[in-house]
Amino acid sequence: MNFRLMNHRFSFGLALAGLLCLPFSTFAESINVATKQLTLNFKVGEDHRLYQQPIGLEQSNWKPGRDDESYPQSGDGYVWEPALQVVHADGNTSTALVFDAATRSNKTADIEEIRFHLHDAAYPFEVTLCFRAHQNEDVIEEWTEIAHRESGPVTLARMASSSLLLENNVYLTHFFGDWAKEMLAPITEQITPGAKTLDSKIGVRASQFQNPSFFLSVGGKASENEGRVLAGSLAWSGSFQLAFDDNGKSVRALCGINPFESSYRLAPGKTFTTPIMIWVWSSHGLGEMSRKFHHWARDFGMRDGHKTRSVLLNNWEATGFDFDFNRIAALFGPAKEIGSELFLLDDGWFGNAYPRTNDAAGLGDWQPNRQRLPQGLAPLAAAAVQQGLRFGIWMEPEMVNPNSDLFHQHPDWVIRQPKRPLELQRNQLVLDLTRPAVQEFEWKTIQNILSVPDITYAKWDCNRYLTQPGSPYLAADRQSELWIDYVQALYALMDKTAKTFPDTELMLCSGGGGRADYGALKYFQEFWPSDNTDPTMRVLMQWDYSYFFPSMALASHVTHWGNRPMHFACSVAMSARFGMDLDLTKMSAEDKAICAGAIGAYKKIRDITCLGDLYRLEDPHGNDRGAINFVSPDQARAVVFAFQLRDGPNAYVRPQGLAPSKRYTIHELNPAPGRPQIAQEGKTFAGEELMRDGILPSCSKALEASVIELSE
Ligand code: DGJ
Repeated sequence: MNFRLMNHRFSFGLALAGLLCLPFSTFAESINVATKQLTLNFKVGEDHRLYQQPIGLEQSNWKPGRDDESYPQSGDGYVWEPALQVVHADGNTSTALVFDAATRSNKTADIEEIRFHLHDAAYPFEVTLCFRAHQNEDVIEEWTEIAHRESGPVTLARMASSSLLLENNVYLTHFFGDWAKEMLAPITEQITPGAKTLDSKIGVRASQFQNPSFFLSVGGKASENEGRVLAGSLAWSGSFQLAFDDNGKSVRALCGINPFESSYRLAPGKTFTTPIMIWVWSSHGLGEMSRKFHHWARDFGMRDGHKTRSVLLNNWEATGFDFDFNRIAALFGPAKEIGSELFLLDDGWFGNAYPRTNDAAGLGDWQPNRQRLPQGLAPLAAAAVQQGLRFGIWMEPEMVNPNSDLFHQHPDWVIRQPKRPLELQRNQLVLDLTRPAVQEFEWKTIQNILSVPDITYAKWDCNRYLTQPGSPYLAADRQSELWIDYVQALYALMDKTAKTFPDTELMLCSGGGGRADYGALKYFQEFWPSDNTDPTMRVLMQWDYSYFFPSMALASHVTHWGNRPMHFACSVAMSARFGMDLDLTKMSAEDKAICAGAIGAYKKIRDITCLGDLYRLEDPHGNDRGAINFVSPDQARAVVFAFQLRDGPNAYVRPQGLAPSKRYTIHELNPAPGRPQIAQEGKTFAGEELMRDGILPSCSKALEASVIELSE
C-alpha cells in the first residue's frame, strides 16, 4: 500500500490539544511510539485510516491491509472483532475513522505522550488513541478517549482501551483461579486462528476466576532470561475483556471494559476515557519484564512504592469474629515483644441492633459494638500505640447485610433486579454507588472510621460480586451503565480517601485477591493476594503474582493454614510484605522464638525485598523446590530464598543479578532450629562465582526453607 501525505482537518479535540503541545508532522508516512526496546510502528494509508505494523513482524514483510487497522471500528468494512462499536445519534451503526494528526509531548525526560487524533468524516465524532511511553522501563500505558458533538447521545457498545497487533506466532500465559486458588495455575497456550477470550462479568471487582494480567511470548515461548515477551495488565476493577483475535496472519489483543451488557450513552460534548492498559516489553525474557513492571509500579502504580513496610499482626485467622477489647488488647504486648510494628483489627468490631458476631449481620452499621468495645475504637487504638504499635482497622464500605439498620432504612439502596428474589453472597448485598446518597454515606463511613485518633492503617474489603446487576437509581434505559458508573464512583471514593488521609496506609482486599489490579492499587500501598495463606500455596501464588506486582505490594501473613512448620511459613511470608495472623497468646515458646527471629531478620533485609530487584530462579510449579533472590539497587546486598516443597537433593541455588566482581559474604538468616550451619556460612565469594557455582542452602526435606543474606 502506498502511503500518501495527509491533509490536516480541524477537530475540536485537536484544537485543544494543539494549545498544549506541538502537532506532530501531519505529513509523516510513519509514526512511532517507541521505548528503548519496543517500537510500535503506525502508518497512515491512502484511505486515510491509521494502521499498525504487528509487533514481531519485520518491516520488510509488512504489507498493510485492512486487517491491520490500528483501532478497527465495526460496520464499515472491517470483519473481525472490532475495537470500537458505536450507534450514532441518528441510528447509524457504522463508524469510519480517519487520521487527523498525532501530537507528542514530553512529560519528563523519560516519558513521552503520543496522541493520535482520528475522526469520522460523516459525523462530528472523534477518537484519540493515547500512549504514554516510559523509555527506560519499556512500559507503554495505552488508553482511548472518545468524544462527539452529534445531535444527541451516541451509544458506545464496545470501546477497547487497546487493540495492539502482534505477529501470529504468539503464546499466551494467563491465570485462572477461584477463591483461595488465586494465581495458582498458570496456563500457557499458543494462540491459534479464532478468538480466545478471557473475561469477567462480575462488576465490582476484576477477578474471581479470570485475572486481568497476562503475558504474550512473541515468536516462541519465553523463559526467565530469554525470549521476547509483552506483559499486559488492565487497570480496571470491574468486568473486563481480553480477547486475542487471530486472523491467520496476525493476532490482535483487544483489551478493555467488557462489552457484555455495558453499552454506554455518551452525551454531546462529553469525553469517555477508557481504563488504562499497561504493556511491558522485554527482549530478554520474563525476569527482565517483571523487574521493569516493578520499577514502573513503584513509581506510578501504587502508593509509597519507595518506602519499606511495617510488620503487621492481624487478628482475623486468630480470633475470627470472636473477640472483645480485652482479647484484642492482650495481643498487643506479645505482638510488640516479637517485633511487630502494626496491629490490624479485622472484621467484627461494629453493629449494635445487629451485632457483627458472624457474617450474616451488621454490615452497613458502622458504629463500634458496645458490648465488645464499650468506649469505641479510640481506646483500643490508643492501647496499641501505648505498647509501641500502630493501629489499623478493617472496613467494607460498599456492602450491607439485610440484617442491618441500614438495609431496613434504605432497602432501595442495594443493587438488585426488579421482580427477582434477592440473591445473597456471604449473606450480603452491594450498595448502589451510582446513587449520590450512597456515595455520601460511604464517604462519611470512611471518614468517620479513619478519623479515629491513632488509626493509621486500613484494610478495605469487598466480599461479593454482582450477580443481579440492576440499579433502582439509574433510569430504565441506563441500566447497562451501572457496570461502568459503579467502578468510576468507586475510584472517586478511593481517590478521596487517599487524598484526605495521606498518612493512612491502605490494604486492598476483595474476599481474597479479587482486586489485584492496577486500577485500584494506585490508591493503596498493597493488596491481599488470597485468603489461602498455606505457605506451600503461597510459594506458587507469589511466584505468579510477581510477574506483574512487586513483592512489597503482596500482603503475606503467617497463619496456621495447612499446619506447616513455623519456620517454613515465616520464610515464605517474609519474602513479600511480612505479616502474621496468629494468636500469640496461645503459641509455644519455640514457635514464638522462630517468629521473633524471622521478624528480626526481615527488618534487616526489607529494604532489599521491598525496593530491590527480583530474580526468579527455580519455578516451584511442579518442582520439588522454588527459589528466588532479591538484589539491592546498588548491588551491595542480596537475599536468597529457597523453599523446599517436597524432599529433594540438597542442591545449589544459583543467584542472579549480583555484581560479578563484587565480593559477598554469606550468612543464613534465622536458621531453622536443629539444622546444621550451611557450609558457606561466613565465607566470602565473588558475585561471578556465586552466580556460576551457587550456594548450598540448609533445606532439602519437604517444608524446609532457607533465607540467605549476601553482603558486600
Ligand atoms: C475476606 C478477607 O479476605 C479476609 O482476610 C477477612 O478480612 C475477611 N474477609 C473478613 O470478613
